[in-house]
Amino acid sequence: MAATNIEVWQQATVIETVAVATNIQRIVLEPASPKRAEPGSHLDVFVTVNGERQKRSYSVVDSTDDGSRVAISVLQAPLSRGGSIFMHSLNPGDTLEITQPLQNFPLRVGAPSYVLLAGGIGVTAIVNMARVLRKLGAKYTLVYAARSRERMAYLPELHALHGDNLRVHIDDEGTELSVAELVGSVDQQTELYMCGPIRLMDAVRRAWRERELTYPNLRFETFGNSGWYDPEEFIVRVPRLGVETRVSAGRSMLEALEDAGVEMMFDCRKGECGLCEVKVLALEGAIDHRDVFYSERQQHTAATMCCCVSRALTSPSGLQADAARGGLAIVTIAVS
Ligand code: FES
Repeated sequence: MAATNIEVWQQATVIETVAVATNIQRIVLEPASPKRAEPGSHLDVFVTVNGERQKRSYSVVDSTDDGSRVAISVLQAPLSRGGSIFMHSLNPGDTLEITQPLQNFPLRVGAPSYVLLAGGIGVTAIVNMARVLRKLGAKYTLVYAARSRERMAYLPELHALHGDNLRVHIDDEGTELSVAELVGSVDQQTELYMCGPIRLMDAVRRAWRERELTYPNLRFETFGNSGWYDPEEFIVRVPRLGVETRVSAGRSMLEALEDAGVEMMFDCRKGECGLCEVKVLALEGAIDHRDVFYSERQQHTAATMCCCVSRALTSPSGLQADAARGGLAIVTIAVS
């Protein structure tokens, strides 16, 4: 296993919890061993789901300079795997196990111009970057898109701080974001940082490629947590190792394989690096590729998958699977 960050775990006390939009809770934490949180950083947090400890990642929205207070914001999604329900149940005085701030989405200072693109709850990864760029006097545009105004955390604060640098797109107000227009307005030197739903990020990546813009200038945070389809339980088989295990809707295939004693390679656990790639030998069902590592063509072939985020499902069209296999998709794989 390789690591881009060293995880230093510590206790943190919940200082404040407050709703900042529909189903979005801001949670302020006081860590036992504070460390400065750079823009783009996140915390890993242990949550308890059905009595089981599971890890989740949340962007640092803001923090004090010395890191003694760190704020995150958590969306309780209707299809929550349980982690966000746990986070929403926290109250001041509760304690949590968290890492010091980890960094997989660094802001490169010094670009001639920036576009920061936030889709929905993805704004949590972008807020701090925008604040820093403003402070530095950088040329930037903050683009914030969501389905409805009530679901937009921090909107008044962003308006107040960024003024004309903020562009807001709200689907149900008829001001949807046009990805083609946005990417069409970017020049070769502009760096675009984005975090949001996979559909939005895929569309931006496609438009970016079509315009033949410099690929390293497109940077994104995924957290590997939003797919094209709802997560389902499925079965994974590794014939060479005699392993067959179930992957519950709230676990990743990588976690399930690790639990079953399979030694796995991984790094980002977010569908970005490709290190957790497994070869698909057989498939009963379909694959919901949730990575940003493969090209569209590679995803179509379904010959491999990034098991840290991608999942199997019975059918993308929602048809019922063969009852003989208990209604579950089955993916048979080889691990390297
Ligand atoms: S561990 Fe990086 S893509 Fe899975």
